[in-house]
Amino acid sequence: MATKQLELHPQVVKFLSSAPKKMLINGEFVSAKSGKTFDTLNPATSEVIVKVCEADKEDIDLAVKAARAAFEGEWKKVTPYKRQQLLMKVADLIEKNAEEFAQLETLDNGKPINESRAVDVPATVEHFRYYAGWATKIHGETLPVSAGNFFTYTLREPIGVVGQIIPWNFPLLMAAWKIAAAIACGNCVVLKPAEQTPLTALRLGELIMEAGFPKGVINICPGFGETAGAALSSHMDVDKVAFTGEYITGRKIIQASAGNLKRVSLELGGKSPNIVFTDGDMEGALRGCIGSVFFNQGQVCCAGTRLFVESKIYDEFINKLSDKVKKIKVGPGLSEESQMGPLVSDEQLKRVTGYLDIGKKEGAKAICGGDRAKDSDLSKGYFVEPTVFANVNNKMRIAQEEIFGPVVSAIPFKDINDAVFQGNETTYGLAAGVWTNDLKKAHAVAKALKAGTVWVNCYNCFDPCTPFGGYKQSGYGREGGIHALELYTQTKSVWINLD
Ligand code: NAI
Ligand code: MG
Repeated sequence: MATKQLELHPQVVKFLSSAPKKMLINGEFVSAKSGKTFDTLNPATSEVIVKVCEADKEDIDLAVKAARAAFEGEWKKVTPYKRQQLLMKVADLIEKNAEEFAQLETLDNGKPINESRAVDVPATVEHFRYYAGWATKIHGETLPVSAGNFFTYTLREPIGVVGQIIPWNFPLLMAAWKIAAAIACGNCVVLKPAEQTPLTALRLGELIMEAGFPKGVINICPGFGETAGAALSSHMDVDKVAFTGEYITGRKIIQASAGNLKRVSLELGGKSPNIVFTDGDMEGALRGCIGSVFFNQGQVCCAGTRLFVESKIYDEFINKLSDKVKKIKVGPGLSEESQMGPLVSDEQLKRVTGYLDIGKKEGAKAICGGDRAKDSDLSKGYFVEPTVFANVNNKMRIAQEEIFGPVVSAIPFKDINDAVFQGNETTYGLAAGVWTNDLKKAHAVAKALKAGTVWVNCYNCFDPCTPFGGYKQSGYGREGGIHALELYTQTKSVWINLD
């Protein structure tokens, strides 16, 4: 039976009625120099939502020139206090248009509307406000040099023109993570949203101009990775590139950055272990496990996709888990009842169903799910069933490679040493979860895991003040908190001879 779906907010209708959607360069919404456009699709139906102007090398070059001119010109005169006010204003405007943003995000990405409302939009607002606060608190220090009679101090300066390349899993929130910190530090920005989900970033661009940002400070250019993304990461006048996405793309970005040795920060996903000990709260662990894997259709860089369960309770735990997972309501994001929406694209659908086949061939057993969603109402969209694989060992491809879908691989472990060993047996190191009521064990495991974030008796907790980023091949650099200021500032030492 078809589920009832939201009627689109009048502002969403209005936003979509002016097509193709233009990109933001130098304070104006403009078409691509080539005149090219691309379609952005609704993943629940695979229908075209709207056409979008497609940035390529020439457009990126114009955006970088605009950012450079702003950085060397008017933006320099803008005080930290004014930067704070501008970021605050953006936050206020997003909040004022929260429902519009939530619907636009769900339409473009597919995620359940209640998640867009409860997570993506408010977290975006909070992020802008948090970094607004930092704008006035970035400062150098005076140094007690012994070299002679000098007054020596440091200046904490912006890096310059920053290229930011973001993925499609949290389109608005990732734009906020990237833009807010860079602007707080006084940089200028060229943001390239993912080609699958350009809409909320473009709407954000409108509010950025409404907030009163000088032209060229923030430019937003949707386009494809191999063209616009490559142009941005190899551009000789971009001083830094910040990237979130696949590790293979991360390597390309590093190579592209070599031309002018631009600074690079990378957040590259993972295969995070979520470790359940016998002595923990089983109900809490079950809920946490579901949240860790199926939130956002599993398209989360830190998803707890390797579920390690102590052997003694392995069977009981995975049976209870699968009973709960079977009840997850899969449906279009614009239906308020849906708990899980479609994957973002046909490409992701193929990738995830490909891994479902690989898992079965490797000898894993899908104790629930394991296929595309069977409901005929969902056949046009990119829906898959939430899946629990049992009979997995940590060497299998489904345990080592990032699937980026609602699929968890459940693996037994013997004891704490085995849990830590297997947990660390991965090329990634983004996050991890631990479920235990034994305080000593919790601290010991948190310390031993090679991961940028460890959640104990919780999972997927976020706050703008916490650093987030990877160990090992999950990337380098930390977004969030005071740590992101490191990404977007550089330090100058000044020596004044007092003799
Ligand atoms: P991707 O890494 O190709 O795309 C992310 C962003 O990078 C997009 O804006 C894309 O246009 C851009 N890009 C792609 N190729 C580029 C290049 N050569 N130079 C510069 N920019 C480039 O990720 P994709 O293909 O969308 O997804 C593939 C897999 O990557 C997913 O299945 C998932 O495993 C992983 N991924 C991880 C994310 C994370 O949060 N760490 C987010 C999205 C994807
Ligand atoms: Mg790609």
